[in-house]
Amino acid sequence: MTTAAILTAAGSGTRLGHVLPKALVPLAGEPLVVHAARRLASCGVVDLVVVPAPGDHLAAFESVLSAADLGVPVTVVTGGMSRQASVAAALATVPPDVDVVLVHDAARSLAPSSLAERVVQAVRAGRRAVVPGVPVPDTVVEVGPEGPTAVEDRVPGTVATAGATAELVTGNPDRSVLRSVQTPQGFDRALLDRAHAAGAHRAGDESLAATDDASLVAALGEPVHVVPGDAAAVKITTPRDLALARLLLEEHG
Ligand code: C5P
Repeated sequence: MTTAAILTAAGSGTRLGHVLPKALVPLAGEPLVVHAARRLASCGVVDLVVVPAPGDHLAAFESVLSAADLGVPVTVVTGGMSRQASVAAALATVPPDVDVVLVHDAARSLAPSSLAERVVQAVRAGRRAVVPGVPVPDTVVEVGPEGPTAVEDRVPGTVATAGATAELVTGNPDRSVLRSVQTPQGFDRALLDRAHAAGAHRAGDESLAATDDASLVAALGEPVHVVPGDAAAVKITTPRDLALARLLLEEHG
């Protein structure tokens, strides 16, 4: 029984307004990728960590991760054009004796160790694909194009003015059955291998690639299970998220 964690870190820092890759951006003096890796390594159920990183920053990732002295082996590999491609590149290097794989985003840097532990436990208990999920606080709607006549048809004589573009609500899903999906997600290794092989044709195009691994498993028609997520596992995307993460770290460590 060996568990590997893939920690995706090959994204750019553009939306954070940084020249550094996002995962190297410091939070309280340590790069985001180190915060995430430390929490994975200390959960007690992860035996090795593989980090897909931008090809032109491999040495910097290796240096900050080895300086962090995480207590489990950490390897850095070149990531891909999309998150999906980065996970596939890392998965290809995971040793054959690994039977459970966690996939986590360095951007969810403060996801606590207890969350990784909960996900691995659920996989080891027989659920072959497990994601953390949290309830959705907002009312969520589905939308489609408004179409040229949507306003004129209902209010005769009205013309939708330029600049007042809008979409049309096409569905009102029941909020109580919706969940926001987080990482780390956990998988039976053979199932994750199969899901990535089946979805490989999408990996090279960021607009077609899967945004998480559970959706690749679901596309095979296999069940995906949801365990309770954690508010601290929010994704850090914007400078505001980084400021929030700093506050969370001060409050909870
Ligand atoms: O861009 P976004 O925040 O959705 O990325 C989610 C995660 O996927 C991040 O941890 C990012 O580093 C990673 N990623 C990757 N390879 C890419 C794009 C994103 O590993 N090509």
